[in-house]
Amino acid sequence: MKTKDWFTEWFNTSYYHILYKNRNDSDAQLFMQNITAFLNLKKGAHIADLPCGKGRHSIYLNSLGYKVTGGDLSENSILHAKQFENENLNFEVWDMRDPIDHTYDAIFNLFTSFGYFEDDRDDIKVLRNIKKGLNKNGLFVFDFLNATKLEATLVKEETKIVEEITFNIRREIKNGFILKHITFTEANTAYSYTERVKYLDLSKMTSYLNKVGFQLVAIFGDYNLTTFEKNTSDRLILVAK
Ligand SMILES: C[S@@+](CC[C@H](N)C(=O)[O-])C[C@H]1O[C@@H](n2cnc3c(N)ncnc32)[C@H](O)[C@@H]1O
Repeated sequence: MKTKDWFTEWFNTSYYHILYKNRNDSDAQLFMQNITAFLNLKKGAHIADLPCGKGRHSIYLNSLGYKVTGGDLSENSILHAKQFENENLNFEVWDMRDPIDHTYDAIFNLFTSFGYFEDDRDDIKVLRNIKKGLNKNGLFVFDFLNATKLEATLVKEETKIVEEITFNIRREIKNGFILKHITFTEANTAYSYTERVKYLDLSKMTSYLNKVGFQLVAIFGDYNLTTFEKNTSDRLILVAK
């Protein structure tokens, strides 16, 4: 029997959401305000948030007046998000490797939701789907980590205690992947997961985008949309059409 891919398993656990529960949601909302203003997206425009997790960006974008469809592979996350649905906010289980059967005014891929697959062809497939899923003047927002800064400042060992669970985290860069090994014990059971995100820097990301016919519109280095600086920026945010 084939074991599940790490991203199918880990993101579908409650432990993933516990570990990341203290992430900065007001930063995420500020980013959505800034980026929608930059894109000049009219109210009522249809945005796909892919993958959306439990829907934090989708729900906020909808509150700003956009029609939003959030998709994610994690059935548990979509089940949670569905309680917030309304006429202009929908969630569905969606594998981003599958072709998109609709076109959108914008597609957002946020908070390092890319580079999980072993084979580069799967990454390209995701981008090709997104390109095909955009309207004629549609825009793609690609919010990824800044691999160059991450490598230079890599915190190799860390312990985080959240909801009385002690998460031991070990990070390394190996064979083109940024690995985050997460181990913890809960109710006398030991758990171990490894997040694997491809080491993709600006040149690799732009070559991926070019390959599927995207044209780069802007490059930002954080959620305030300041200019990207390879050694100091926290994020690598690409806007393409
Ligand atoms: C780092 S989380 C970010 C989620 C969301 N954008 C946010 O900011 O909260 C990455 C998400 O990618 C989803 N995911 C992983 N592989 C996927 C795939 N093949 N298709 C769709 N979603 C996927 C996971 O379930 C997880 O919710």
